[in-house]
Amino acid sequence: MIRTVCSVVCLVIFASSVEAKITFSPQDLERLLQHMTLQEKVGQMLQLNIDVLGHEENGQFVLDKDKLERVFLQYKVGSILNAPGAGPYAQTPEWWQQTIRTINEYAIRGTGIPCVYGLDQNHGTTYTLGGTLFPQNINMGASFNPALARKAATITAYETRASNCPWTFSPTVDLSRDPRWPRVWENFGEDCLVNAVMGRAMVEGFQGTDSVHIDRYHIGTSLKHYMAYGIARTGKDRTPAYVPEWELREKHFAPFLAGIQAGATAVMVNSASVNGIPMHASAKYLTRWLKEETGWDGMIITDWADIDNLWKREKVAVDKKDAIRIAINAGIDMSMDPYSLEFCDLLIELVNEGKVSMQRIDDAVRRILRMKWRMGLFDQANTTLSDYPEFGSAEHIKVAFEAAKETMVLLKNDNHLLPFTSPLKLLVTGPNAHSMRCLNGGWSYTWQGKEADRFAADKHTILEALQQRFGEKNVSYAPGITYNNEGTYADETVTDDTFADVLTKARKADVIVASIGEQSYTETPGNLNDLRHSENQRRLVKALSKTGKPILLVINSGRPRIIADIEPLATAVVNIMLPGNEGGDALASLLAGDDNFSGRLPYTYPRHPASLTTYDFRASEQSTTMEGAYDYNAFIDVQWPFGYGLSYTTFEYSNLHVDKPFFTERDTLTITVDVRNTGSKAGKESVLLYSRDMVASIVPEGRRLRAFQKIMLQPGEQQTIRFTLPARELAFVGEDGQWHLEPGEFQIQIAHHSQTIVCE
Ligand code: BGC
Repeated sequence: MIRTVCSVVCLVIFASSVEAKITFSPQDLERLLQHMTLQEKVGQMLQLNIDVLGHEENGQFVLDKDKLERVFLQYKVGSILNAPGAGPYAQTPEWWQQTIRTINEYAIRGTGIPCVYGLDQNHGTTYTLGGTLFPQNINMGASFNPALARKAATITAYETRASNCPWTFSPTVDLSRDPRWPRVWENFGEDCLVNAVMGRAMVEGFQGTDSVHIDRYHIGTSLKHYMAYGIARTGKDRTPAYVPEWELREKHFAPFLAGIQAGATAVMVNSASVNGIPMHASAKYLTRWLKEETGWDGMIITDWADIDNLWKREKVAVDKKDAIRIAINAGIDMSMDPYSLEFCDLLIELVNEGKVSMQRIDDAVRRILRMKWRMGLFDQANTTLSDYPEFGSAEHIKVAFEAAKETMVLLKNDNHLLPFTSPLKLLVTGPNAHSMRCLNGGWSYTWQGKEADRFAADKHTILEALQQRFGEKNVSYAPGITYNNEGTYADETVTDDTFADVLTKARKADVIVASIGEQSYTETPGNLNDLRHSENQRRLVKALSKTGKPILLVINSGRPRIIADIEPLATAVVNIMLPGNEGGDALASLLAGDDNFSGRLPYTYPRHPASLTTYDFRASEQSTTMEGAYDYNAFIDVQWPFGYGLSYTTFEYSNLHVDKPFFTERDTLTITVDVRNTGSKAGKESVLLYSRDMVASIVPEGRRLRAFQKIMLQPGEQQTIRFTLPARELAFVGEDGQWHLEPGEFQIQIAHHSQTIVCE
């Protein structure tokens, strides 16, 4: 029985709610485990949704004593997630403080072990009102600035702890390699290095410098969704992917490896299947790759109800019990089974029948307890709001504003339309112009982001920000098209089929700012059947172009929708993606030239619906015409390539130099290049270093990003940028699943310069 140990633990917790004096240790943890009953152990392995703990009263969720007793005293459940309600809805920090404190009281009464609460604080404090919302991760990817991502995560951690919550299901490090996927915007783009570097920076920001002793200003993380979630054959959420094993290892595994090496406390699993095996059923990927090969001692959690999905959707199990057997034996440690306690009863049966070993249960519980210990929960189960005076502070908002500026991408600027230096009359139009929901995207106050205009009413939409920056009398507004907030994300209303009002106002304006894009969504509700941009919106832009007025296209969209027919009608194009609450003001400041653009595309922007690719396509995917009559016609033709982005200034690169013209895999290469700001405005520049393996035993890629640095240069200033690159990082995973660095020529490329070096 656990009682004796429990009383020690309880003592620690209650004592520490004043000031932690006694420190719980890994040895205590082992002793605790030895004294736990099977019921207590399986309880730790279950995570429930908060809705099962209470009910709504006068529009407010309240905890229910009977339900709390059943969940924590009888079933001894170890973890709770989510905000309450069908939204679910963000709550005040005071509400979170009290709610999680009560939950902990019951959890401790049940087992002596605090509950670990998890929230999707995906781009800031999604579920805490008054907290800071940053640009979404796709924007952070465009910044190519890991320091920014680290800072945003640090603030999010602080504000999440202020809410008495110790754990987030973030960062998302899936690779957005298919623009159709509705979760493109939740990660850092298509490249595995960018996801690895940004993901690692966020883990460090969330967890702080000591991932084994996470202090009360930091939180535990859950890297997600392990792995190859973003490349479903159908392009639809939670559907199967088919990926060669070497690509899994080389690209999709890489950001998870970087994250766990940075000390990530947990990993959440991809809901779908890869090569016919649901990820939740794969002992190979969960246990062998993630735990055994790396020695990682963190914890693996399912995604939403995904053990159920093994029998209900994936059909690899006959019923729930069979599904639990498969998943736990594959290496799942905690089941996010939102609404049901049945998991506990069935897992106990499985252990008693010898179908799941006690050793596996102990391993899972040890990982869970270790995570709770690392978060400091045994020493101090709750936080106190007054210890977090900077919650939602002006300083935090400023970081979000600076971040938003650094993540917007200038894609076209003919005739130097931007910045708007002389006084101009602007017409602001399009369905995204006056919407906080559109600026934020999903996971903003609610799951689908539908209530952002209510909760962020004090923030500025694009229209409001432009009116403030350029003067209300200089900015007129006619939306032309509006979204239906209650419909699907793509549900639009065209206010007048001829766009008469818009066109009248356009004729009186000097420049048209057309804010087009998508309304917010996430997961399955964001699925699409047509990658082209909304037909209504394209029609609006075409009508506007007939006025002859210059058009600035502002794209505010979670994924790159095809705009090939309207891009030529625009004089300038800015892709703001999902910049968050400060996005309107950030855009206004960039358009006014108060600051400079420095974002680069974190994905390949497609031009044709049936011609989708990523920047690291294989050499033979773009073939030239053979001699004679045979024409392959396999040209890669994209709207804008990965890494593309303009600035108000110009940068010149020179003197690319690699220190070792000949190298072996034991060498480290030092690569230098001079970058000079040759324009008249200060600006930041992302210096991207690519390599190309000229000949390899599997078809080599045209190029691969190997390193990047972001620098700031004043007009006329020059800097020598130095990269140190271990030569083994030029290796690829071969057909045999092993890393290979083959002898032969490699090209090192930065901007338009390249140098050939030889591996001996
Ligand atoms: C999503 C995850 C999220 C989880 C918990 C799932 O539906 O796929 O990204 O962390 O819900 O809210």
